Amino acid sequence: MTARTNRRWLVARHSAGEISEANFRWVESPVPTPADGQFLARNLWFSFEPTQRFLIAPADPAVPDSGGIPLGEAMSTIAVSRIVESRHPEFSPGQIVHGHMGWEDYSVTDGKSFSPTYRVPDGIPPNWALGVFGLTGLVAYFGIHEVARPKRGETIVISGAAGGVGSIASQLAKIHGLRVIGVAGSAAKCEWLTREAGVDAAINYKSEDVGPRLAALCPDGIDIFFDNDGGPLLDLALERLRQGGRVVLSGATSRYAVQPPPPGPGSYLNLVMVNGRMEGLLGRDYIPRREEAISAMLPLLRSGRLKSKEDVLVGLREAPRGLARLYAGENVGKQLLRMDGPGVDSERTPDLARPDALA
Ligand SMILES: NC(=O)c1ccc[n+]([C@@H]2O[C@H](COP(=O)([O-])OP(=O)(O)OC[C@H]3O[C@@H](n4cnc5c(N)ncnc54)[C@H](OP(=O)(O)O)[C@@H]3O)[C@@H](O)[C@H]2O)c1
Repeated sequence: MTARTNRRWLVARHSAGEISEANFRWVESPVPTPADGQFLARNLWFSFEPTQRFLIAPADPAVPDSGGIPLGEAMSTIAVSRIVESRHPEFSPGQIVHGHMGWEDYSVTDGKSFSPTYRVPDGIPPNWALGVFGLTGLVAYFGIHEVARPKRGETIVISGAAGGVGSIASQLAKIHGLRVIGVAGSAAKCEWLTREAGVDAAINYKSEDVGPRLAALCPDGIDIFFDNDGGPLLDLALERLRQGGRVVLSGATSRYAVQPPPPGPGSYLNLVMVNGRMEGLLGRDYIPRREEAISAMLPLLRSGRLKSKEDVLVGLREAPRGLARLYAGENVGKQLLRMDGPGVDSERTPDLARPDALA
């Protein structure tokens, strides 16, 4: 590529099942020019989200506006990027921003999307801006501290516990003084949870019988269930919810773009019996409060009590693999990609996942 080439991954095939490179087409084209009200950004790091599956799913005749990104358009991602040219009144060249971009070297945008583009605070490394301080971390932080309303000593069960959201939620719950049971899909994930994240117990739902394990680990029931998965574990947790129990709905990876939609939880009526509460939260709505989460988590990261667990691929070529890894359950921690090519200054995009990074 030359400095003025824009390497891009376009959506080439919609599919409901397995995600692979065959869903995308690699092209190289000239770097675009921003129009009035737009800016041009050099993409530095990408985040991968299970909900990106909706972007490459076929249209569902029963759901208006379904069908994701039209064929031939760039795949969309949440990214941290550096503005190189601006015709937008609120953004200037040199600023580092968090927003929706394409799987490409350079994106042109007006900054408006499902979640609005915002400036990354000075000194926050891009990997943290997307992970622990991005939507991932906001959902974990506010999900635990506000929606779950935890009391010390309570028992929390977390699904997808070794993923991006789950790895932060598990550690924050432990730091808050809860008894934490993490549920994850591999021995390596369970080992990370018990050895590194410090949770009290981990269940490998792919090799263990989850119901009896939960009964043994939570003989008095579950106070809080933090759900990233939306699968059968939701029912098992609802059945075991204690008086005043809470279910925090972060997401439902097992249900995304699955047709026909799987049935909902059968045991929800137990919420009546225990005066329980089930409540979701949307990370985007907490963006205005991100400074609160950063102030609370930065000291924890610096001291090493909170670890930003990241799974980092390098180079735009790897983008399809990043998304596929989520659905193959291969990522441990937050799945990210660090971009390559001209205009990506390693000094400005350091891998600062160390606890002392900002000390
Ligand atoms: N509410 C919000 O605003 C918000 C914001 C960000 C994320 N979220 C949600 O939080 C959840 C976790 O997101 P994340 O970005 O941290 O992803 P993640 O948990 O890091 O990655 C996805 C994980 O899901 C599991 N998985 C893969 N295929 C699955 C399937 N078919 N059924 C069930 N589980 C499967 C795998 O873990 P195992 O091997 O452990 O199964 C995989 O590692 C998602 O549901 C996401 O949509 C919500």
